[in-house]
Amino acid sequence: MKAWELRGFGRENLVSAERPIPKPGPFDVLVRVSAVSLNYRDRLLVEGLYNPDLKFPMIQVADTVGDIVEIGEGVSRVRVGDRVLTQYATTWIDGPPKGDETVHTLGNTIPGGLAEYVALNENVVVRAPQYLTDEEAATLPVAALTAWFSLRDQGRLSRGQTVLVHGTGGVSLFGLQIATALGARVLITSSSEEKLERARVLGAHAGINYARNPEWEHEVLKHTGGQGVDHILEVVGGKNLAKSIAAAKPGGQISVIGILDGFSSEIPLFPLLNRQTVIRGIVTGPRRAFEELNQYLENLKLRPVIDTVYPFDAALAAYDHLYRGAFGKIVIRVRN
Ligand SMILES: NC(=O)c1ccc[n+]([C@@H]2O[C@H](COP(=O)([O-])OP(=O)(O)OC[C@H]3O[C@@H](n4cnc5c(N)ncnc54)[C@H](OP(=O)(O)O)[C@@H]3O)[C@@H](O)[C@H]2O)c1
Repeated sequence: MKAWELRGFGRENLVSAERPIPKPGPFDVLVRVSAVSLNYRDRLLVEGLYNPDLKFPMIQVADTVGDIVEIGEGVSRVRVGDRVLTQYATTWIDGPPKGDETVHTLGNTIPGGLAEYVALNENVVVRAPQYLTDEEAATLPVAALTAWFSLRDQGRLSRGQTVLVHGTGGVSLFGLQIATALGARVLITSSSEEKLERARVLGAHAGINYARNPEWEHEVLKHTGGQGVDHILEVVGGKNLAKSIAAAKPGGQISVIGILDGFSSEIPLFPLLNRQTVIRGIVTGPRRAFEELNQYLENLKLRPVIDTVYPFDAALAAYDHLYRGAFGKIVIRVRN
């Protein structure tokens, strides 16, 4: 089968390869891959910043959709013919993560989906929402689950509350769509006026250009009558977290998700104490939350925002797009 594998850190080591079709074990399913989507994490993996101990060669990419074409004799959760998605944290089923439950992921500790086939334990797959195309479904496992788990599952976001999302990448646009669907009012930041306009069309109440307004937290306060927002998806990290604390309402929640501006943050404690801000670390979500999200999407028929779909042979161009930054998701079509 054709696959894209990483043979060493650096984009120049992401190469097209011919590999044997994997054989499913007794509790495994063989998935014929239709499409995958990229996340910022895939870039961190290539650069050696996600897992410095990665074993090479490693077939890349976590977010995968495809059809089950073969099952082991012990498989009972799914059947041949099911169209399935991959659960990102492959062994995390429910409850707070225990031990290494957030560590095992496709393209990292086990081969990923950027290949014609992938063999996975039956526990790693969930049925894909039927109304979505393959390309749309492929966008869900990391970005949509992270936004859902932060806002709804852990955050208990409710109608009438306010949400701030940073930038117009995958997690943030799902955050915008899910929060809007839940009846919240969403503020969004971006470095691009054109992207802010597109976000308004998707339902954003207000857009703030963080490149032109480095003190964007004051703009958030202006848009919320001086109050701040109820919930923030903090995908930026670094120096941004302190500003997010200033932009949150007293008692507001910040889901700390990403590290676009750095892996560590210094935060002033007095504002945090005075504002009683709740800061919660997030790592995607367990399979139980992913299944609930997919059911919610099935009822709502929400359509993921895809920037560009690339053919399999143009996977490197898709990665280049990831490095430039997309509006929403970048997808690679694997099966023609
Ligand atoms: N903890 C978890 O479970 C989890 C899950 C998913 C993602 N993440 C992390 O969350 C972050 C976002 O991931 P993603 O896949 O959504 O990324 P992405 O789709 O690649 O989004 C990148 C976008 O972020 C925006 N951005 C970059 N620097 C920014 C800054 N300083 N301030 C505001 N926005 C900025 C830009 O939007 P504009 O072009 O509009 O400016 C850029 O296009 C990454 O750090 C990723 O590792 C963590």
